[in-house]
Amino acid sequence: YPLRHPEPVDWTFAGPFGHYDKGQLQRGLKVYTEVCSACHSMRLVSFRTLEDLGYSDGQVKALAANYEVQDGPNDDGEMFTRKAVPSDHFPSPYPNAQAAAAANNGAAPPDMSLLAKARGITRGFPQFVFDIFTQYQEGGPDYIHALLTGYQDPPPGVEVAPGTHYNPYFANASALAMAPPISNDQVSYDDGTPQTVDQYSKDVAAFLMFTAEPHLEERKRTGFMVMIFLVIFTGLIYLTKKSVYARKP
Ligand code: HEM
Repeated sequence: YPLRHPEPVDWTFAGPFGHYDKGQLQRGLKVYTEVCSACHSMRLVSFRTLEDLGYSDGQVKALAANYEVQDGPNDDGEMFTRKAVPSDHFPSPYPNAQAAAAANNGAAPPDMSLLAKARGITRGFPQFVFDIFTQYQEGGPDYIHALLTGYQDPPPGVEVAPGTHYNPYFANASALAMAPPISNDQVSYDDGTPQTVDQYSKDVAAFLMFTAEPHLEERKRTGFMVMIFLVIFTGLIYLTKKSVYARKP
């Protein structure tokens, strides 16, 4: 069944002056920890990264302590589990990929660290083609938002495999093994932001953009300075050229 393109969302981090909305990232973290982390790991993201979202040392320690990680071997050569500390990474709830797939109708939930970079705006073309020609770097978060809000009944005549759920935005097929993971009012926000699937999806997608690209703001700032430098430098080179090649009187 035809894939539907994600509708573009108006992200604060888009454009040359894009920046993250910390409140939004904090809400997205809440959605991730309360909902998505039940199935999806982020094994490239350490808990202490969250200090960039404005959390204190103590808050990060408390959050990490909610998770158990594998460690070892100890003196007896055995592996053991212990509470996570800030230098640990968001663990997978499953011992390995086989167990993850077995628990989810044969499809393992992908690691989320770079998920916002994993899917572009369409299928069939390599992502970099779009990055080069469209400069459209927000395709990943658009996709996550579209996928989470895009579950619907299959159109007449379309049958989906048992244990899968129809979603025209899913990039691999038209049905995926993840059931709609979130519903209205499931996560409580204390800043008055609407507790809707649409809002949750935007917030968690923004948070996943941050985990995939924590230094986005710095990159954009540097890029802007580089452009200013190039303009000035071009002027200087032009003046130098004029002076070096000037006709002698
Ligand atoms: C796949 C996001 C919660 C199980 C995916 C994909 C995304 C995603 C974007 C698809 C990636 C792709 O295109 O391949 C999220 C978000 C969640 C969440 C943002 C929290 C709000 C969950 C939960 C479960 C789960 C709670 C388990 C009960 C899966 C599975 C897949 C998947 C099994 C693979 C589907 C397939 O390939 O058919 N998730 N997820 N997810 N997710 Fe989630």
